[in-house]
Amino acid sequence: MAIIFHEESREFHLFNDEVSYIIGILPNGQLGQLYYGRRIQDRDSFSHLREGGKRSLAAYVFEGDTDFSLAHTRQEYPSYGTTDFRYPALGIEQENGSRISNFQYSHHFLFNGKKKLEGLPAVYVEDEHEAQSLEIILGDAELGMRLVLSYTIYENMPVIVRSAKYLKDTGKPVLLERAMSMSVDFSDYDYEMVQFSGAWARERHKRVRRLEQGVQSIHSMRGASSAEHNPFLILKRPDTTEDLGEAYGFSLVYSGNFLAQVEVDTHGVARAMMGIHPDTFEWKLEVGETFQTPEVVMVYSYDGLNGMSQVYHKLYRTRLARGYWRDKARPILLNNWEATEFDFDENKILQIAEGGQKLGCELFVLDDGWFGARNNDHAGLGDWYVNREKLPDGITGLAKKITKMGMQFGLWIEPEMVNKDSDLYRMHPDWILHTPNRSSSHSRNQYTLDLTRYEVREYIYERISSILSQADISYIKWDMNRYMTECYSLGKENRCQGEVTHRYILGLYELYERLVTQFPDVLFESCASGGARFDPGMLYFAPQAWTSDDTDAVERLKIQSGTSYCYPLSCMGAHISAVPNQQMGRMTPLDTRFQVACYGAFGYELDLNQLSDAEKEAVKTQIEFVKGHRELIQKGIFYRLEHPYQDKYVAWMCVSEDKKEALVSCYRILNEANQGFERLKLRGLEENSSYQLCEWLSAEDKTDSYSGAELMYAGIGLSKYFGKKVGDFQAATWYLKA
Ligand code: DGJ
Repeated sequence: MAIIFHEESREFHLFNDEVSYIIGILPNGQLGQLYYGRRIQDRDSFSHLREGGKRSLAAYVFEGDTDFSLAHTRQEYPSYGTTDFRYPALGIEQENGSRISNFQYSHHFLFNGKKKLEGLPAVYVEDEHEAQSLEIILGDAELGMRLVLSYTIYENMPVIVRSAKYLKDTGKPVLLERAMSMSVDFSDYDYEMVQFSGAWARERHKRVRRLEQGVQSIHSMRGASSAEHNPFLILKRPDTTEDLGEAYGFSLVYSGNFLAQVEVDTHGVARAMMGIHPDTFEWKLEVGETFQTPEVVMVYSYDGLNGMSQVYHKLYRTRLARGYWRDKARPILLNNWEATEFDFDENKILQIAEGGQKLGCELFVLDDGWFGARNNDHAGLGDWYVNREKLPDGITGLAKKITKMGMQFGLWIEPEMVNKDSDLYRMHPDWILHTPNRSSSHSRNQYTLDLTRYEVREYIYERISSILSQADISYIKWDMNRYMTECYSLGKENRCQGEVTHRYILGLYELYERLVTQFPDVLFESCASGGARFDPGMLYFAPQAWTSDDTDAVERLKIQSGTSYCYPLSCMGAHISAVPNQQMGRMTPLDTRFQVACYGAFGYELDLNQLSDAEKEAVKTQIEFVKGHRELIQKGIFYRLEHPYQDKYVAWMCVSEDKKEALVSCYRILNEANQGFERLKLRGLEENSSYQLCEWLSAEDKTDSYSGAELMYAGIGLSKYFGKKVGDFQAATWYLKA
C-alpha cells in the first residue's frame, strides 16, 4: 500500500495490491480524477489520461485557450458555474449572492492510519499501519475558505474512504448549500446501477438499471436513511456476476437524508456522487468554523458482487462496529413483541421468558409497552418511567427474575419520540420538531423530539442512563418509528432552519455515543419500524440492527439477500416468528424459518410455549445448532450462490476463513411437478481438500466426502434432497467439514 505524490506531474497515486486511485492537479489548480479501478503500475505521470479538446458550445477556462474546459475534464470535487454544467459536489452562497467558487490546490499531508471524524461515525484502524491517509488542502482566497479532501486507503482491502471538510477562515459568513462527501468521474458509462430499495416490511430489495445519459439517483428526505432507499449504491459492468467482474460500491456512513446519484454526460462520462441531501440542507459557516461531511466507503472489486460484499462485511464487522460486542458471538434472543404487542403483565412475560429459557434462549427482550400509559401506540412515548400496573416490581425486579432464570435481560426503548398523550409532551410541547403557527403532521400517533436541542438530549440521556444503571440490562433495542416532518426547531443551536435535519443526526450520534460509552457492555440493536435506518452510521454505535418487521421466511430471503450486499450477517437481526406470519399470512415450515433466520443475529419472536412438543424439540435442536455454528455464520465469508434457476431457488453459504468448514443452505420457494436434476455449485472451498457433507437434521450422508473442486464445479445434486420434500417453501442445509 502506498500513496505517492509525483512532484513534477503533480499527481497522487493511491494504491494497494488490488486498487489504484489517481488524482492530478489541473491547470487551474483544481483537482482532476485520472483513474479509479484495478491496480495499475505506478509511473511518473498519468497526465495522458486527462481528456480535453475543442468542442462546439463548450466554455473554456483560460483566455485564448480552447483545450481546457471543466466540462470535458474528469474531476474530484467539481463546482458549478465555471465551464462545468453538470451537478457539482459543492455549493456555497456568499454574501453578495454569488455561488461561484474556485478551490485550488495549496498543499497536502500524508500520514499513516486514519483520523477520527468529529461527531460522526467512521471506519477506523487499530494499528496505524493498516491504512494510509492523504489530506489535500485547497484554498479559495476570494471566499476566505479552505476545503480539505480526505482519502484513506486500507492496506489489505480494496477500500478507499473519502470525505470533505470546509473551513471558513476570513471574510463574511457563507451558507453551505451543498457539501457532498465524494464525487468520482468514471471515463465511461457502460455500467449498471444497483440500488437497494423498497418500503416498510420489504426493505433493501435489489434493483438494477442500466446507466443512461442524464441523472439517475436514489435519496432520502425522510430524516432517516430510510426503508425506501439504502445509502448504498453499486456500479457494475453489465456482465459482472456474483463471482466475476468489476463492481464499485459506495456506502455512506450516515443515518439521515442523503442523495446518491450518477450523472452521465454528453460524452459518456459517469459522475457518481454521494452525500447529505442538498435539498434539505443548509449550513451557516461563520469565520473560524468548520463543517465536516460524513464519509463514503468505496470498495472496488474485480471478483464480482460477492467479492465486493465480502470486503464490506469484513470492514464493517471489524473496523466500523466497535466495543465489547464487536467480536463476541451474539446471544440467541427471544423477543415478546409479536407474541403480546402491548398486552402483557409480569406473569405473562415471565412465562414467555421461561418457555424460551427451557429451550436454550440466552437473552429475553421486553419490547414496547412497559412504561408510562403505553397500552397502545396512542400514549406514553416520552414517559420513560415503568408502568407498575403491568410490572409491579419494575424493570429492576423483572430483570432480576429473568437473570435468575439464567437468561440475560434486554429492553426496548424509543427515545427520539413522544406521543401527545404523555406527561413529557404536556410539559414541553415545544420540544417536538414543528413549524410555529402550523399544525404538525402525525405518524403512528407520535412526534419527533427535537434532538438538535441540548436540553432534549439531556432529558433522554438522564432517563435512559438511569434505567440502565438501576437494572441488570444487557441489551437495548433502540427503535424509531416515524419519519420527520415540519423540520423546524426552536433550538438556538440552529443558525438557520436548513441545519435542523443534519443537527438532529449529530444530536442522535452524540446521545448514542454517551450511552455506549457509559454502558460499554450493553449490546445495542438499532431498529426503525424494522429496517428504516439500517445504515453504517448506526452500525458504529449498535453492532446489530433489526433487519425488517417482515419476519416471513420467504420475504426474508429477498430482504436478507439485499441487505447482505453491504452489511455483514453479524449485524442482521433475524428471528423466527409464528405462522401464519403476521405480515404475510403465509404458512412456512418451522425448519425453513430456521434455515433463513440462522443467517444473522438469530432469535425468536413468538411465545415458544404455544408450540407443540415436537416443535419445541425442533427449537432445542435449532438453538444447539446455532450455538455450535454461530462463529462460522457471523464471522465466516458469505456467498450468495448464483445458479441458473433464479426464480426457483435461493442459496447462501458461509465459509470459515481457513476454509476448513462451511455452511450451505438452499431454499426452494415454490415446488414444481416432475422436478429436473438441478445442481447447486458451491464457492470458496479449498479445491484439493476433502469435505464431509452432512445434511442438517438428516442421518444420511454423514460419511459422504467430496473434494472442494467437485463441490464447486460439479455441485450438489438438489433433486436428491428436495425430491423428498413435499410442498412449497422448503429448505435444505449442509454442514461441510474438511
Ligand atoms: C417497530 C419494531 O420494528 C418492532 O419490532 C417493535 O419493536 C415495534 N416497533 C414496537 O412498537
